[in-house]
Amino acid sequence: MIHPIVKYGDPVLETPTKRVENFDADFQKLVEDMFESMYAASGVGLAAPQIGLGLRVTVIDVSNGKNPEAKLVCANPEIIHAEGEQREEEGCLSVPGFRAHVARPQYVTIRAHDVTGKEFEMRGEGLLARAFCHEIDHLNGVLFITHLSMLKRDMIKRKIRKLKKAGEW
Ligand code: NI
Repeated sequence: MIHPIVKYGDPVLETPTKRVENFDADFQKLVEDMFESMYAASGVGLAAPQIGLGLRVTVIDVSNGKNPEAKLVCANPEIIHAEGEQREEEGCLSVPGFRAHVARPQYVTIRAHDVTGKEFEMRGEGLLARAFCHEIDHLNGVLFITHLSMLKRDMIKRKIRKLKKAGEW
């Protein structure tokens, strides 16, 4: 089932999430729905708050559905190591139409649970490292615009307010 993506302004996006405790059939269905919703929106990552759910889980696929092995479920993910730096343009399905340069580590290692609850560690580089940071931020109630300068962030917020007034947000 494809869920609509929650947009900036909804408090669920700025509220820290609760840990996943039950890796049951309902959870597996939720993860399937998240992948479906992410692909439908042409995203490379989706966190549960983006479909209105305050749960600590994110799905990632930096291959955009081209490589089945790139499909990642990260429940209760934590960054355990980060190094280097990259500065690339970043966007978010919950802030559509706005992209900005954000500094992130070039290498990021996470520890998380998979869809069955099994713990794993994984090292990501480049776009995958960026996705780990962006999605874990979501699970902590943080959006990428938080990392921008106040000037840039206020400009985006102002434009969103205009869109809201026009009924286009
Ligand atoms: Ni996002």
